[in-house]
Amino acid sequence: MSIVRFDAVNIRNIQQASIFPSNRINLIAGCNGSGKTSLLEAIHLLALGKSFRTHQIHKVVASGADRLVVFAEYISDNNVSFALGVERSKETTRLRINGCNVGKVAELAQLVPLQLINPDSHQLIELGPRHRRQFVDWGMFHVEQEFFPVWCRFNQALRQRNAALRLGASDTEISVWHSEMSVCADHISDMRRSYVADLIPVARAVVEKLSGITPLDIRFFPGWSGEEQYEHCLNHSIKTDRNLGYTRHGPHRADLSISVGGVQARDRVSRGEQKLIAAALRLSQLELMKIKTRRSCILLIDDLPSELDETHRELFIDYLYKLSCQIFITTTESGLLGDKMEIVDKVFHVEHGNIEEVI
Ligand SMILES: Nc1ncnc2c1ncn2[C@@H]1O[C@H](COP(=O)(O)OP(=O)(O)O)[C@@H](O)[C@H]1O
Ligand SMILES: [Mg+2]
Repeated sequence: MSIVRFDAVNIRNIQQASIFPSNRINLIAGCNGSGKTSLLEAIHLLALGKSFRTHQIHKVVASGADRLVVFAEYISDNNVSFALGVERSKETTRLRINGCNVGKVAELAQLVPLQLINPDSHQLIELGPRHRRQFVDWGMFHVEQEFFPVWCRFNQALRQRNAALRLGASDTEISVWHSEMSVCADHISDMRRSYVADLIPVARAVVEKLSGITPLDIRFFPGWSGEEQYEHCLNHSIKTDRNLGYTRHGPHRADLSISVGGVQARDRVSRGEQKLIAAALRLSQLELMKIKTRRSCILLIDDLPSELDETHRELFIDYLYKLSCQIFITTTESGLLGDKMEIVDKVFHVEHGNIEEVI
C-alpha cells in the first residue's frame, strides 16, 4: 500500500503542498523550522484524523486560516485506488473516502495503517501505562478484527457505570453494567494477551538486531488482578469506586512491563537505548502485522537518524530498507545517511513550508 499523491493545505507553515512520493523510502530534508514534522503531521491527519503533536486542531491550522485540508490518492495492498480526504476546523471534521463522507475515523485508520517513530518514542518505555496500552491496541486494531467492536462496547458500558457512580446510584443500579463489562473485558484481555505472546519473539529479534540489547521481555497485565474474575472485582469495588467517582480496575487500566534481563527497561537502559528499543518494538509490530494479515503499513520517522550513533544508524537504515513499506523519514541533513543514501528513492526539500522534490 502507498500514498501516490499527497496534498496538504494550511497545515502549520505549509500553505499549500503537493507531492508524489515513492512507494518505498522518501527523505524529507530541510532546516529546523522548515516544515518537515508538519508534513508528517499532515500525513498522520490523513490516516487518523488527528495530529500526533496536539489534540487542539486550531494549533495545527496555519495561522490566519480557519481550516486545514489533506488529500491523498492511495493504493491499497490489493491494488485498489482510493481518494481520501480530511478537512478540519475548530468546529468541524469531515472525512471522505472516494467522495463519500464517512462518520468514523476508524474507517480511515483501518484502510491506512500508519506507524510513527519520533523523538517522543521513548515515552513507551518511560511514561505511564496509557502509552503501552496504545501500543498494544494499535496492533489489536490492525490485526484482530474483533477487537474494535468489543472495545467500543466495553467503553460504552464503562461510561454508563462511571456516570452511575458519580450520580450516587444504588449498588443494584451500578452493577447492572457488570455482566456486559465482564464479557467484553475477558474478550479484550484474551485478545491482548495472545497478541503480546505473538509479538514477543518478533520483538526480541528486532530489538537485538537493532540495539544488541538482550534479553528483552514483555509481560501483559490485564488491568485487574488476574487471580479474580472481573465481574467479582467490579462487585467488590463498588464502594471504593463510588468514592473515587470512576471505575478503577479493568481493561482501560491494562499495562505492559517491558524489561531487560529481569529489570524494568526504564530503570536499566539509557534514554538513547530506550528510543532504540521503542523504535524496534514499533517495527516489530509491522513485522507481526505482515505475518498475520499480509498487509503493509505507512511508516513515519521523525528526526530519528539524528539521535543514533553511526553504527546504530546504519543498522536501522539497513533494516528499513528490507521492510517493504512506504517510509517518510525527516532529517536536517540529507548527508546524514552517508553511504546509505542510495536506499532513498525520493528526496523532498522543505523550506519555509514549501516542499519541492529534488531531482
Ligand atoms: N499554526 C501555525 N501556523 C503557522 N506556522 C506554524 C504554526 N504552528 C507552527 N508553525 C511554524 O511552522 C514551522 C515548521 O515547524 P516544524 O514542521 O515543526 O519544523 P521542522 O522542519 O523543524 O520539523 C515552525 O517555524 C513553526 O513555528
Ligand atoms: Mg521537526
